This record gives sequence, C-alpha cells and structure tokens, in this order.
Amino acid sequence: MISTIQIREAIPSDAENLLKHLKKIAVETGFMTMGAEGPGKTVEEQRKEIKTIIESDVTVLFVALDKKELIGIAEIHGNISPKLKHIGDISISIAKAYWKIGLGTTMMEQLIEWANSPASQLKRLELTVQARNERARRLYEKMGFKLEAIMPRGVKDEGVYLDVCLMSMLIGEI
Ligand SMILES: CC(C)(COP(=O)(O)OP(=O)(O)OC[C@H]1O[C@@H](n2cnc3c(N)ncnc32)[C@H](O)[C@@H]1OP(=O)(O)O)[C@@H](O)C(=O)NCCC(=O)NCCS
Repeated sequence: MISTIQIREAIPSDAENLLKHLKKIAVETGFMTMGAEGPGKTVEEQRKEIKTIIESDVTVLFVALDKKELIGIAEIHGNISPKLKHIGDISISIAKAYWKIGLGTTMMEQLIEWANSPASQLKRLELTVQARNERARRLYEKMGFKLEAIMPRGVKDEGVYLDVCLMSMLIGEI
C-alpha cells in the first residue's frame, strides 16, 4: 500500500471531509445505496455522530487519509436495541483512484480485529452488497463472510431492479 496512507479511527474534525467523501463516492460508483442526494446530514450532525461513535462498544468508524485527503471510510454500525446489540452492519467505501492497492483488505482487517477485541460486544457482522459488485463480494468472501441469501429486487438503480446479497460472519463463541 502507498506509504503516505494512514488509517485511524474518525475524530469529530473529520466530519466535513467525511461527508464530502460520501457524496463523491455515491456518484463515482452505482454500488452505494446512497445516490447523488448524498448522506443528508449537516456537518454538525456528523460531528456529533462521530463523538457518539468514539464512546460506543458496538460502532466503530475508521478513515483512511492520503496526507490530509480523506480517501476511504470503513464502519461497523451497531444497534442500541438490547435484542440486536450483538449485530454490527458493515459498510466500506474507497475513492476510485485508490482501488486495487489493498486498502479495502486492510480496512476490513481492522474492522474485524476491532469486532474481535474486548472493546466490542459484537457476535455477528453482516452486510448487504449488490450481486453485480464482484470486487466487493470477492473482498468479503476473502475475509471470511458467508453468503446467506440473495434478495431479488433488493435495490433499484436507474430504473433497474437488482439482486442484493446478504452476507455474514460470526464473531467469537457464545
Ligand atoms: C469494494 C472496495 C471497498 C474494494 O476496495 P479495494 O481497496 O479496491 O480492495 P483491495 O485492493 O483490497 O482488493 C480486494 C479484493 O477485491 C478482489 N478484486 C480485485 N480486483 C477485482 C476485479 N477486477 N474483479 C473482481 N474482484 C476483484 C480481489 O479478491 C482482491 O483481493 P486480492 O487482491 O487479495 O485477491 C472498493 O472497490 C470500493 O470502495 N468500492 C465502491 C464502494 C463499494 O462498492 N462498497 C461496498 C458496498 S457493499
């Protein structure tokens, strides 16, 4: 991987760059659930969300930076409901110029390491991915995620209904 890239947990001052990154990625690929409308959050709302995440034992948010530019995000988003608190939803997005250099693999490894650490209460990681998104599917399979279901018409992109895969990984013993 490029030596100038640094991966660390997000801090509140990343909020503005993080929102810009999400908006850019949403139009750069058709693989995100979000479209050109963007994440629909203000910088202040995002800043508060990052503060909450830092204290959470079910949610973690990593950012990748090339010098000062935010080029990737990887998140496990947990649930506050007691019956679902053991489940974390994974999402990852990397700027297209930085694909294929192992960054996705490194960020996924960091998420899984965090999920297995004493800082986390998670017992199951899950994600959804468009069936046509072969790069992402291969990455998840490589990390140990198993396909659980294919959801027909799981998303509609530019008027076309697409299959969506549900994948999961179990964490630790119960
Ligand atoms: C999916 C994504 C995170 C992958 O990130 P990346 O940094 O390119 O991933 P890596 O370089 O670590 O490669 C991961 C794996 O992808 C697979 N891969 C690479 N090129 C591929 C290709 N052309 N076709 C299919 N699979 C490919 C390989 O298995 C590779 O692992 P390997 O090199 O050890 O064999 C990135 O492409 C991305 O952010 N895409 C847009 C947003 C998105 O689709 N997010 C996921 C939504 S669920």
